[in-house]
Amino acid sequence: MSINNEAELLGMQKVSEAVAFTLKAMRKHARPGMSTLELDVFGGSLLKQFGAKSAPFTTYGFPGFTCISVNHEVAHGIPSNHKILKEGDLVNIDVSAELNGFWSDNGGSFVLGKDRFGHQSLVDASKQVLQKALLHIKGGVKIADVGHVMETEARRLGYKVIENLAGHGVGRSLHEAPENILNYRVRSNKQRFKKNTTVAIETFIASHSTIAVEQNDGWTLVGNNGGFVCQHEHTILVTDNAPEILTRANEIWS
Ligand code: CO
Ligand code: CO
Repeated sequence: MSINNEAELLGMQKVSEAVAFTLKAMRKHARPGMSTLELDVFGGSLLKQFGAKSAPFTTYGFPGFTCISVNHEVAHGIPSNHKILKEGDLVNIDVSAELNGFWSDNGGSFVLGKDRFGHQSLVDASKQVLQKALLHIKGGVKIADVGHVMETEARRLGYKVIENLAGHGVGRSLHEAPENILNYRVRSNKQRFKKNTTVAIETFIASHSTIAVEQNDGWTLVGNNGGFVCQHEHTILVTDNAPEILTRANEIWS
């Protein structure tokens, strides 16, 4: 959305704090032996304390308050009391919500406890790609050029990007224009980032796959070629200089 006054900026700051705090608290709360349903209910109760409504639950009828994707699941993992977290699991939590008519979105992948299966380098690469992307984003910069920066950095680190998942405009709804902030360059895309707009920038960094494929449950996405995928997402305000990271309180980089 385009931010035109202080009230709109404050609205975006408030909802972004709510989703960022919830994501951070869920990451800290996650333990081996806990089900993803238990973790989701915890996250849902935090959103409620902020007066915020889960975006996937409210808007899309998703069966959960947050998306929790474990190991081979790329995104949109459904919280379940049958999915028990284990030491060394690669976990992605994505939290998006609405508060007072404003929407914000953030997410992050992490290794639960000890890195028993060697996922940390992929997690670190995804964080690095997001950092690099944000360094390049300001008003007037082509969306395609930031995609090129992301793919180049992913490849330099020895990884691929998922081609059919993307960041997006956010603010008055969860997904709004610009719709396809991809992790690679589409030369025909002439769209540019606009000053004073809010967008969600997210990585999809993969060890083996390049396409996310929907499972029979109608939600869960997995890679077309196996392996693992990491995502890190911030909602930002585009400016003339460095973007204001509205969800920085999620501390996905620390
Ligand atoms: Co998200
Ligand atoms: Co998003």
